[in-house]
Amino acid sequence: MLAGKHVVCGVCGGIAAYKAAALVSALARKGCHVHVVMTRAATEFVAPLTFRSLSGNPVCIEMFAEPKIWKVEHVGLAEQADLTVVAPATANVLAKMATGLADDFLSTLLLAVRCPVFVAPAMNEAMFCHEATQHNLEVLRGRGVRIIGPAAGMQACGTSGVGRMSEPGEIVAALEVFLTQQGRWRGRKVLVTAGGTREPLDPVRYIGNAGSGKMGHALAEVFQESGAEVVLVTAAEREAPGGVKCVRVTTAEQMRSAVLADFADADVVVKTAAVADYRPVQAAEQKIKKTGGQEDDRLRVELVPNPDILAELGRMKEKQFLVGFAAETHDVLAHAEEKLRRKNVDMLVVNDVTQEGAGFGVDTNIVTVLCRDGSREDWPLMSKKELAERLAEVVLERLQSD
Ligand code: CTP
Repeated sequence: MLAGKHVVCGVCGGIAAYKAAALVSALARKGCHVHVVMTRAATEFVAPLTFRSLSGNPVCIEMFAEPKIWKVEHVGLAEQADLTVVAPATANVLAKMATGLADDFLSTLLLAVRCPVFVAPAMNEAMFCHEATQHNLEVLRGRGVRIIGPAAGMQACGTSGVGRMSEPGEIVAALEVFLTQQGRWRGRKVLVTAGGTREPLDPVRYIGNAGSGKMGHALAEVFQESGAEVVLVTAAEREAPGGVKCVRVTTAEQMRSAVLADFADADVVVKTAAVADYRPVQAAEQKIKKTGGQEDDRLRVELVPNPDILAELGRMKEKQFLVGFAAETHDVLAHAEEKLRRKNVDMLVVNDVTQEGAGFGVDTNIVTVLCRDGSREDWPLMSKKELAERLAEVVLERLQSD
């Protein structure tokens, strides 16, 4: 899987830099074109000549060195890279990546790359556990950077704890697993809906709900990273993951049109959107004014039902694998089973939003996954990103078994 890939290896200044030599050597033996970029501090630990010899390519260190290829060098390398792996990744480089600092060749390159990025942290346990480092890792994880390790054990500073760089073999294995995963989704189209729709009452007000779009955007990101072609139809005011086709909508009717436009050739549809079930009969053209402001003042709004997009897809579907999401507050399983049948979906992910850590707005979820064949799995509390990864995995298993 790795043969022929252009892999940029960032090497930072830590004692684990010597292990990067074994990593570069292993990647080169797998047939990768390895391009090593060192920080100046890294050159204190290992001579650039080591990496040049192992990779067979020039090593980049200085931002303003005479370019070895004619293009602005960090941009040229960034465009060429299929994968980037920073090993060892020091606390310093993680902080620079999290804040977008670009003050040397490696950090500048890391801002310019568009390919998947892996980091293998290596540092003393106290530095690794420091709130700042943990925060930076969280920021990077949220941005789709994959974190390999670190392992626990004896450290060069004489203490024992978490912070040892993962072994080169483990890093190569992580890259291979990633590429295999990508291969399995390549050529498949996934349509994801996200966010809570807003149904206008007048030019400044709407009826809305608490759907935040976190789950749907996490899913879009995971499917995109897994190699699928992703269309994200979102009603959330949230940044869309890079590389997905993002269609922004506001109302349920707009969402329906956008979904139908991309449904025919979709292989998988995941509907996490919290679609408003009703909308005002007609949105007022002008702002609705208070009549008297007295206590007995009443405003009556007549609502009509919105189309049930998922149920419509359930009636139309041919090859598509349909996944619905349901947020419930009571009789959770009974409602979920009824929805699964009524909407003719293949899988329904249900959560009890009254549980702490589940539902709208939070970064975690606790769900039960029900399938058309009657199988049922209860998943424990996990981040929405982890849930998205696990869901992508079970959907793929179902697709492959069909
Ligand atoms: N859904 C949809 N269109 C609607 C309502 C819901 O596509 N008008 C989809 C949601 O995106 C979700 C699933 O149906 O994937 C379940 O949503 P939920 O709101 O739980 O279902 P409802 O049918 O609206 O049932 P309830 O009476 O519980 O609101």
